[in-house]
Amino acid sequence: MAVVALIGAQWGDEGKGHLVDLLANHARLVVRYGGGNNAGHTVVNHLGTFKLHLVPSGIFDNATVNVIGPGVVINPEVLIQELKELQERGIDISKLFVSDRAHVIMPYHVMLDQLQEDARGEDKIGTTGRGIGPAYADKMSRSGIRMGDLLHEETLLNRLRGVLEEKNRILTRLYNARPLSLHDTYLRYLDLGHQLAEQITNVHPIIYRAIDKDIPILLEGAQGVLLDVDHGTYPYVTSSPPGAAGACQGSGIAPTMLNSVIGVFKAYTTRVGEGPFPTELPEGAEADILRQIGTAWAEVGTTTGRLRRVGWFDAVMARYAVQINGIDTLAITKLDVLDTMPKIKICVGYRLHDAELEHPPATIAVLDQVEPIYEELPGWMSPTSSARRFQDLPERAQTYVARLCQLVGARLGIVSIGPEREQTILVSEIF
Ligand code: IMP
Repeated sequence: MAVVALIGAQWGDEGKGHLVDLLANHARLVVRYGGGNNAGHTVVNHLGTFKLHLVPSGIFDNATVNVIGPGVVINPEVLIQELKELQERGIDISKLFVSDRAHVIMPYHVMLDQLQEDARGEDKIGTTGRGIGPAYADKMSRSGIRMGDLLHEETLLNRLRGVLEEKNRILTRLYNARPLSLHDTYLRYLDLGHQLAEQITNVHPIIYRAIDKDIPILLEGAQGVLLDVDHGTYPYVTSSPPGAAGACQGSGIAPTMLNSVIGVFKAYTTRVGEGPFPTELPEGAEADILRQIGTAWAEVGTTTGRLRRVGWFDAVMARYAVQINGIDTLAITKLDVLDTMPKIKICVGYRLHDAELEHPPATIAVLDQVEPIYEELPGWMSPTSSARRFQDLPERAQTYVARLCQLVGARLGIVSIGPEREQTILVSEIF
């Protein structure tokens, strides 16, 4: 049996989508376990280029069952649109199932996300504005609406009646915004539920049947562990646990069933939104190279189109990510982006006044003050994109990757050197 979690191990956008697309060839069940349409996975395969926000990247493989798990928050309109686009391009969606336990992102969540961000002014978090935080907050305060509720007229009406009154008070009195009509919202969400009725189900039996039959299962992460609500750079985080523990919680698969945790790291670092970023590069030539503007790898957020902040690989944060998630295997993506760099830096420690820190501090004001301690390696200054085996890579590129593994303390599993399926090198067995 193999249950493998593939998690983003930095601040998101590590290139998880195209790895899942590849690994879905080996897995027979792919479960998306957290986040919502704040995520954006770009998948490039023989069928074309796809941008997915909610649908698991295993959807392109006809033999694979795909599940959107209980830990995901779902904007039904976005999901319906995504499914429609996939169907229009000939993708079979009959093996996609949506957990009836997953929470719904309602229109007031999206409104409140944006209104709260505006109200934060200079202290804004830089959320994606998709209603993610307010939806998770309602789930925790037990006033959420779940996908299964959309299929039960009476439950939906009762839940909505209770919640909407409070939301409307907040919207009108606190933010001077327009209230939402109970009648219209009810009918709209009932209709959305009907449109998704074939997909919404109790996914627990599907998952446990797969476990019983020893079917390889891939748990597909979204965002990255440095955005984790408990362990990330709080408050500049998302509202869910994107790591290995979240993979178990959000899918309903017990921690003892997990066989491997693959941490996906870019060969450098990026971040969208606000928050600390010790190895961030100032605007200039090096940052421009890392951003790869105008190429398939352009560092622009898949979901919001925002320009990503870029910087060197941060081994302090990476080691922390490995430790708190039990990452045993590394996937290093976008190594080719460094092909033209004459010198490449790795942050191996933080300096705070006279002290050297091995672990990232929790307090943002302290993290903002740390200075990265860099180790510098010579660049390989030659293209890597046509390599098909690890040993095809320039020696200096191999040395760089080996050094990252050594610094963070996990074995190498995958290296990717381009967006195509064949540009992903499997260094060690995953399933
Ligand atoms: P939220 O998840 O929309 O609430 O945004 C909270 C923070 O997480 C912001 O800094 C976002 O930019 C960041 N974030 C959320 N989802 C992603 C993602 O998929 N990739 C990268 N950053 C993300």
